[in-house]
Amino acid sequence: MRPTKSMHGQWSSNWAFILAATGAAVGLGNIWKFPYITGEHGGGAFVIVYLLCIAVIGIPIMMAEVMLGRRGRQNPVASLQTIAAEENKSGLWRLLGWSGVLAGFLILSYYSVIAGQAMAYIPRTFGGMFNGVTADGAHSLYQSLTADPERLLAWHTVFMVGTMVLVARGVKSGLERSVQFLMPALFLILLLLVAYASNTGEHFTRAIHFLFNPDFSKLTGKSVLVAMGHAFFSLSLGMGAIMIYGSYLPKDTSILKVSVAISIADTLVALLAGLAIFPLVFANGLEIGVGPGLIFETLPIAFGHMDGGAFFGGMFFLLLVLAAWSSAISLIEPAVTWVVENKGVSRVYASVTLGVITWLLGVLTIFSFNIGSEWKLFDKTFFDLLGYVTANIMLPLGGLFIAIFSGWVMHQHATREELGIKYNFMYQLWRFLVRWVTPVAVIIVFLNAVGLIDNIKDWLHY
Ligand code: TRP
Repeated sequence: MRPTKSMHGQWSSNWAFILAATGAAVGLGNIWKFPYITGEHGGGAFVIVYLLCIAVIGIPIMMAEVMLGRRGRQNPVASLQTIAAEENKSGLWRLLGWSGVLAGFLILSYYSVIAGQAMAYIPRTFGGMFNGVTADGAHSLYQSLTADPERLLAWHTVFMVGTMVLVARGVKSGLERSVQFLMPALFLILLLLVAYASNTGEHFTRAIHFLFNPDFSKLTGKSVLVAMGHAFFSLSLGMGAIMIYGSYLPKDTSILKVSVAISIADTLVALLAGLAIFPLVFANGLEIGVGPGLIFETLPIAFGHMDGGAFFGGMFFLLLVLAAWSSAISLIEPAVTWVVENKGVSRVYASVTLGVITWLLGVLTIFSFNIGSEWKLFDKTFFDLLGYVTANIMLPLGGLFIAIFSGWVMHQHATREELGIKYNFMYQLWRFLVRWVTPVAVIIVFLNAVGLIDNIKDWLHY
């Protein structure tokens, strides 16, 4: 039997769910990752593929996850198992829940290290360390942080402890209220940064050109995979986080509306971050593909030169860390609920245990910035490899199976009833997207990334 309510409680309103899910979606992915991978993958064309993935894969999968969560009302593993049983399908579908729990935990291990770096920048900026800083200066200040495993470890520890305290208290209490002020504040500070960047005149124009003027010759199979992986990452899809949040959702909420709203908000934040950062890159003659250090090497230049920069900069990094926290809790929530529901332990015990394991794994990411930067597999450091495997392989695979589950395994009656979409046309569109578009797109992008499609073309002399 399906429970009608989650044993962990329910959101107080639709608005509370939107805030929490937006909190989960908006985080380092939008502000730290989107700009740097856009830089690495040549801009415009990459951005278009990303936006396309959000629209035709992201939104339908988000709807599917919310729907599955609300129908199952338990942790992702149990929800999938219950729904599969109801449809007389194999209990093996719970493995999909498992892979999600694993992905969330792996992502959190490095997410926390990066959030720790952002945290290190709060006292640095408030303290005026970047006043009048040059591009070279900002670069070497970032290097000095990442070269020091002890400092990274200290901040990683602070971030993980904070995350586990929040999770232990329960995702719903406090989160609703804090996200309510956090998101608008982050938005305002990003607008301020974009306004500052727009003063760079031609460099601003160049940034717009870079972001929105596609040059498809720069697009490789790998970049398409990264763009798709990032659509999943940024919307927090493919591992059950949104499913868990959906399991606390009241029965009458319009899943279509909330999913569209969350996706739009998430995308706007990423685009604003790009508009704030790339003008600085051009104005200061920086290299566009520097990688994960991009925001840490560019934004301090802006804060170091604008009026009140120490204050706004400090606030920016503070808000970024808070946004990262509201995302981090969603990464570990599926695992925590699973442990609580299955091992009969308390939420606090589950949080602490999982937190310690995640923290330990994070140490390897810390090392890949310094003493372990030469430890490579497939030419990637531990951090690069973990980021690649989780975002570009695990999440899209999770999404693929979520699509198959909700489009093929579940009966039409069930999805139609649970989604409760008013217009038949919209429901049919959703069903078409999850049945055909998502599975086919994910498979083609995978094949394309490993070069198989080129091989087939060669083979056909095409
Ligand atoms: N979306 C968040 C960000 O952009 C990160 C995140 C939170 C996430 N929960 C997730 C990514 C679940 C993948 C899956 O920062």
